[in-house]
Amino acid sequence: MTARTDWQAWHEPYADEGSPLSRRLRLVRREIAAWLDERPDERLTVVSACAGQGHDLVGVLAGRADAHRVRATLLEYDPGNVAAARDAAGRAGLANVAVERADAGRLSSYAGAVPADLVLLAGVFGNVTDHDVRRTVAALPQLCAAGATVIWTRTRRAPDRTPALRGWLRDAGFAERAFHAPEGMLFSVGAHRFTGPPRPLNASGELFTFITAGTQWRC
Ligand SMILES: C[S@@+](CC[C@H](N)C(=O)[O-])C[C@H]1O[C@@H](n2cnc3c(N)ncnc32)[C@H](O)[C@@H]1O
Repeated sequence: MTARTDWQAWHEPYADEGSPLSRRLRLVRREIAAWLDERPDERLTVVSACAGQGHDLVGVLAGRADAHRVRATLLEYDPGNVAAARDAAGRAGLANVAVERADAGRLSSYAGAVPADLVLLAGVFGNVTDHDVRRTVAALPQLCAAGATVIWTRTRRAPDRTPALRGWLRDAGFAERAFHAPEGMLFSVGAHRFTGPPRPLNASGELFTFITAGTQWRC
């Protein structure tokens, strides 16, 4: 028997506005809204890796009169979460938000969705090895358009790897715009601006494999 994470149940704390997950969500949404406010572009592209039920991006766009500026691709593997995200986008009237059932750990899944002006990596870095975090960060120039923003989250549970992660982002050509690590909370939320040259997508490349409760969950 292998233990598996129930990725639909994982979203349940979002129903409690006081939960740490909801607090984290508010910060991610704040960074998404700040990015939208900063960008005057008529067309903006977003890709969200391991998007879950889309609470962050869909939640922001649902309340924006300028949501039509955004064309987004949400990559998610769990079929129930894919359905929930599609449902949420549909209810919000977001015709330009596509939810694809795909393995976000493979670069081939991003073909057609990138280069993106905003890359969301919420709930990814805490579920993969350090090696895969480094590999993903090093590959971000393949996902980013010039001047793109990356919004990410990472637990600070010991050993806190966020100092290393922020260094890897710097080395990969990203300038830190925000780093939220609220006192008494284990989560953190970062926003980084890409200052380097975009690179072409190497569709045969790999980014990460989720590790869950000591069990490899390849999808
Ligand atoms: C920690 S949750 C984060 C969900 C969402 N980003 C959020 O912050 O609300 C991780 C999500 O990644 C999905 N997932 C895990 N491995 C994946 C993969 N290789 N490709 C796409 N989705 C994956 C899970 O089904 C789950 O919905």
